[in-house]
Amino acid sequence: MAGHETHEYDVLVVGAGGAGLRAAIEASTAGVRVGLVCKSLLGKAHTVMAEGGMAAALANVDERDGWKVHFADTMRGGQYLNQWRMAEIHAQEAPARVNELEAWGALFDRTPEGRILQRNFGGHAYPRLAHVGDRTGLEMIRTLQDHGIHQGMAVHMEITITTLLKDGERIAGAFGYDRERGRFRVFKAPAVILATGGLGKAYKITSNSWECTGDGMSLAYHAGAQLKDMEFVQFHPTGMVWPPSVRGILVTEGVRGEGGVLTNSEDKRFMFDNIPELYKDLVADDAEEGWRYVIGDRDARRPPELLTRDHVARMILAEVKAGRGSPHGGAFLDISWIKDRVKGGAEHIKRKLPSMYHQFKQLADLDITETPMEVGPTTHYAMGGVRVDSDSQASSVPGLFAAGECATGLHGANRLGGNSLSDLVVFGKLAGQYAAEYAKSAGPAKVADSEMEAAEAEALAPFGREESGEGPFQLQQALQDMMQEDVGIIRTEAELDKAAEALADLRSRAAKVKVHGNREWNSGWHTALDLEPLLTVSEAVAAAARERKESRGAHTRNDYQEKDSEWGKANLIVEKAGDGSMRVRREEIDPVPERLAKIIEEQG
Ligand code: FUM
Repeated sequence: MAGHETHEYDVLVVGAGGAGLRAAIEASTAGVRVGLVCKSLLGKAHTVMAEGGMAAALANVDERDGWKVHFADTMRGGQYLNQWRMAEIHAQEAPARVNELEAWGALFDRTPEGRILQRNFGGHAYPRLAHVGDRTGLEMIRTLQDHGIHQGMAVHMEITITTLLKDGERIAGAFGYDRERGRFRVFKAPAVILATGGLGKAYKITSNSWECTGDGMSLAYHAGAQLKDMEFVQFHPTGMVWPPSVRGILVTEGVRGEGGVLTNSEDKRFMFDNIPELYKDLVADDAEEGWRYVIGDRDARRPPELLTRDHVARMILAEVKAGRGSPHGGAFLDISWIKDRVKGGAEHIKRKLPSMYHQFKQLADLDITETPMEVGPTTHYAMGGVRVDSDSQASSVPGLFAAGECATGLHGANRLGGNSLSDLVVFGKLAGQYAAEYAKSAGPAKVADSEMEAAEAEALAPFGREESGEGPFQLQQALQDMMQEDVGIIRTEAELDKAAEALADLRSRAAKVKVHGNREWNSGWHTALDLEPLLTVSEAVAAAARERKESRGAHTRNDYQEKDSEWGKANLIVEKAGDGSMRVRREEIDPVPERLAKIIEEQG
């Protein structure tokens, strides 16, 4: 054995974004020993990429809002595949979590009366996103981190977890290594909360950064937990398309929330061309006049730019395909026009969207107060993930919990913007609470030496392979190119078959990947070890996408363009079969109870 450092906790939290931090705070408050492990430095998490705000029915800007409307909007956005109980808890608890963040020091933007200001976002009936300019996720992380470090949790930074450890059927901890020195670490804990975020790095064009390799989903799958809704990957309609080095970086929906309009190369607001039946009543029909909606107006009608993300992304793609795109293959997003209609002019734009202003100025040499941006779809979020119980966030493996993007259930077939930040803190808190309770009652678990030896051998394998083995970077790139091409925004059976073949080939090549040098700060080794989670989640996404023969939410099939009512009653579960192969099976959804069905009906 190469040797390892051992740490012992009651609850181990893997991931330090909004969900991980909130879970760790809750578990620490419950009086148990908490370890928090993050792949990067504390404070660097994909949470910061939810820029435009946190959805919560505070009703500060429009008093007609309330948890029932938020619940109905979330279910409609998710095309009714959501776990209804999660949508209910989320809508009811989100306002308390916003107020809690404020009490812990988050500085939200204010209404003239001094209340927390809320802005419009796609699919939300009323202005609902509590925000801090366009840096809301960053403010959330800062606040949770500042609060969390006083709760007594132990933080381990720059650690990658490669395997979950088990004691029979139950969880016993996690095995990983520190990325700086390459030393192995064993974390013994009867309860583990996975909060590792998403899988965006399986795609070439993404808003996600290097950490988002589907780790939590893959760890849970290999430990025997189920994944659900993996076919639903959200392509945010507006990422940067130019220059190439920054392609995919997020352009917050807050730009459209503040009045940004989308046009094509013919200067046409193409979003008016195709409005889904479901949203016809909500959309203002003033394409000629421009956007009549006034900042702060209480009229609930929306511009079509604020239809759901799947729809806007497909509309941009259609314009590009029809030859009406922007010079670098996107659409134009213009916020500059509002400066003549709002108090403060260009300064108003800079104040509402400071990060966007700097991002475009520095990366594209473009002033967004003067010139339209070029934008196009970017892989942003996985609606699928570890299947959890709605109330406790427990997976099917005793002692294993998941929260945030790496879990699933709240968002169904498509997530509404802003629902992720509230998801993180609502369900992070519950995961922390239930994991602490579980740890107290279950007591310590044992880790067999043989398990740790096997984990070490697996982690070191890439060093010991034949010199002729491929390098990990080429393989990662080949995977990303293939996923972008064949398992992207619009899918067909032929492409998904091709993807399955390509994935089988990539898996056998990954087993031969050769890494050179030693274990100290070896990015080739890190990338080689990231291949396992990337391949596992890609296989799950591709297999589920092939199985769902309809178009719904973020899953669009060119060969099955309509929604199918039978598929509207089912989720797809991905699990490891007895022979170790990946199995996808259909499971009927739990019907919405009468009391909630009534709310959905009343809210239209
Ligand atoms: O566009 C955005 O600011 C992203 C928000 C989100 O994904 O929730």
